[in-house]
Amino acid sequence: MRVGFVGWRGMVGSTLRARMTEQKDWVGLEASFFSTSSPGGPPPQTPGAARQPPPLLPADNLSALSRCEAIVTCQGSAWTRAAHPQLRAAGWKGAWIDAASALRMEPDSTIVLDPINRPLIDAALAAGKRDFVGGNCTVSLLLMGLGGLFRADLVRFLSTMTYQAASGAGAQKMVELVHQMHDLGKIGAKVAASSSALDVAEAVAARMHHSDHPTGSIGYPLAGNLLPWIDAPLEDGRSREEWKGQAESTRILGRTTPVPIDGLAVRVGSLRCHAQAVTIGLTRPADLDEIAQVIQSTSPWTHLVPNTPEATQRQLTPAAVTGTMTVAVGRLRRLHTAPDHIGLLTLGDQLLWGAAEPVRRMLRIWREHTGQ
Ligand code: HSE
Repeated sequence: MRVGFVGWRGMVGSTLRARMTEQKDWVGLEASFFSTSSPGGPPPQTPGAARQPPPLLPADNLSALSRCEAIVTCQGSAWTRAAHPQLRAAGWKGAWIDAASALRMEPDSTIVLDPINRPLIDAALAAGKRDFVGGNCTVSLLLMGLGGLFRADLVRFLSTMTYQAASGAGAQKMVELVHQMHDLGKIGAKVAASSSALDVAEAVAARMHHSDHPTGSIGYPLAGNLLPWIDAPLEDGRSREEWKGQAESTRILGRTTPVPIDGLAVRVGSLRCHAQAVTIGLTRPADLDEIAQVIQSTSPWTHLVPNTPEATQRQLTPAAVTGTMTVAVGRLRRLHTAPDHIGLLTLGDQLLWGAAEPVRRMLRIWREHTGQ
């Protein structure tokens, strides 16, 4: 199969290529790589590919793009908005497989998260649909953790309070977070053994507000801090990130009546794992053992962590989960706010199940569908 890759050098694109290599996905592919900045340059490695990829092609070369039977893009919404309508208007019939949000809510698009919505993807393919878009990272990770509860129709409402990593905001901001950590860390080396904890806190706070503290990309201190706003403001006081929770979950689950989902989206100083603390109102009384089983049945990657201090602090953290395919769920317990309320925390790697993996798997599904 002839597949074009666009935006393959950034964090999501690099994660996608690494996963494709691990899973031997290049085998049988004639991959072409497109570039907005360096056409003619050398292509990346594609171990096992049907042929050596040609030098990088210009990302505005519509005729080269239209020779592809699938285009996989991690380039971002601006490129999608520029290229997709032109290709479709020219009658291109290949699969458009996209990590960006631009097309997610279009009537002809399917948001792909196949461990959760494979029947919906199969129905879309059978109906001749050709636009497949990965979901918002927070939403995909929520459903990879808790999809079983929706499948079992146990969720009456869901409130999710997120702790989102810097990677979701982009590579530059993630790197700046580490520069901020380093800048604050220098205070550790300067404080005398006799300094009080209050003196250290004061020195750190002063440094965070210092004009030399690196905030050029994020705009604010994030290390040692948190930023409770993600994405653009909407008129009703929500951020767009908060709006996506219900809007995208409803589409991924293929529901006609949405389950109410809302909560606050917060950026924290972790690198690439998004966590979310969730309150769920149940549709019917269910004991915790049943709920635990339903959660565990969500997917082979969903891992329920026992609600003990040791297991939680060892397994239910960004440090434990980063760079892995595991979506961890833990702190599962009844909340005392109402008899039908439960609480839990779930987290996963924002670049893997949150971005690259649903897109990688969709290319596989398209290949199976077309027999290639
Ligand atoms: N909007 C998400 C974030 C990432 O800012 O973390 C994109 O899916």
